[in-house]
Amino acid sequence: MNARAPKGTSDMLPDVGAAWEYLQRTAAALFARYGYAPVYTPLFEHTEVFTRGIGEATDIVSKEMYTFEDKGGRSITLRPEGTASVVRAALEHNLTANGQGTKLYYAGPMFRYERPQKGRMRQFWQIGAEALNMPDPSVDAEVIVMLWRFFETLGIPTSHMRLLLNTMGDEQCRPAYREKVAGFIREHSAELCEECNRREATNPLRAFDCKNPQCREVMAGAPLLRDELCEGCAAHYSAVKDSLDALGVPYVEDPRLVRGLDYYTRTVFEVQVDAGLGSQNAIGGGGRYDRLMEQYGGPPTPGLGFALGFERTLMAMQATGAFVPAATVTQVYVARVDESVSGAAFGVAAALRDSGVATEMDHQSRSLKSQFKQADRLGARMVVVVGPDELSSGQVTLRDMGSKEETRVALGAITAAVRDALSIAE
Ligand code: HAM
Repeated sequence: MNARAPKGTSDMLPDVGAAWEYLQRTAAALFARYGYAPVYTPLFEHTEVFTRGIGEATDIVSKEMYTFEDKGGRSITLRPEGTASVVRAALEHNLTANGQGTKLYYAGPMFRYERPQKGRMRQFWQIGAEALNMPDPSVDAEVIVMLWRFFETLGIPTSHMRLLLNTMGDEQCRPAYREKVAGFIREHSAELCEECNRREATNPLRAFDCKNPQCREVMAGAPLLRDELCEGCAAHYSAVKDSLDALGVPYVEDPRLVRGLDYYTRTVFEVQVDAGLGSQNAIGGGGRYDRLMEQYGGPPTPGLGFALGFERTLMAMQATGAFVPAATVTQVYVARVDESVSGAAFGVAAALRDSGVATEMDHQSRSLKSQFKQADRLGARMVVVVGPDELSSGQVTLRDMGSKEETRVALGAITAAVRDALSIAE
């Protein structure tokens, strides 16, 4: 058999697993301050949820979905992102009925059949947040600030991050603009790549996102939506910028930022980093999708949100020297001098753990010397040595691994002594 994980996937080994849990904890604590509640939707949905929601002409839907027929003959797709599922769930469970607003966040794996490269996986992990039924521009700014604060809280220096901001307009101003860009592509057809020419008919705005340097140069001359916004979109965009300015969040307007999902209307944004990632430098992004729920047959329900990529965020944290917690923390190691005191050592370790101290002991019949080495490797601050001589007088030895100081402690007082030495309050 092939004992390797499939291409584009990776095992989350303990160090990375600990980092993932840390990001989830940090997100849960921060997002709660903004009123977000957790939601867990299935990892797969009826394919239509994504084809309708994300758009048939997007790369995600046309090239990257893991779609299969299940045993009941249904077309099922592993979720390539979380927004479509959250909006489907909100509609199904009436979370936005009667004009009610709701704020939800989620964390979990997403699946896209992409060409793997650094920071681009076929199974990757996202944390995302969605605010539904909130049309005011103040919530756009709030969501953007929350994403920015999240990266700041993780310790990624703001000097290494860039927040790009743009507006995609709406059904009033975008169709005419779309036609203008399509016309521009037709005019410059000979200078643009095959893919951009194909997009002229299906999704002309995606031509702004082409990586081909010549296409980029040509598209730099294309008309910009910001010059053609309708009154409502212009006012909305300017209010979002005012709120961000008021908080001093340093965004950069990028009139060519078009994101890879068709559901966006009005505000879009992306956070990019300049460390550790190369070309896949977007660690998070999102925007407004005021028409998405209607595409599922629901009532008009504005929405917006973002998702951030775990793997890319972790790479940015490592590259910028941000704190990443260790997989395990051992505060105390219980060593035993010989087998005769194994039972007592086991009891000491159990009592320490029950009192809230992270404790490890030997389960591999190591010598006393190698137990000390192990304690050192685990970074234990104290070692409790259980030996037959001390034990016969009801005592154990407590060794401070930093100062190397040793004290005799009565067996019954060891938990209190350790907690005291570790400065754990009662
Ligand atoms: P997205 O830009 O496609 O947006 O993905 C968000 C983030 O997921 C990216 O910025 C990146 O960090 C990460 N990501 C995407 N694809 C990959 C991949 N193949 N490998 C590793 N990381 C990846 C969305 O998914 C939207 N649902 C965001 C949103 C929420 N918009 C509104 N609400």
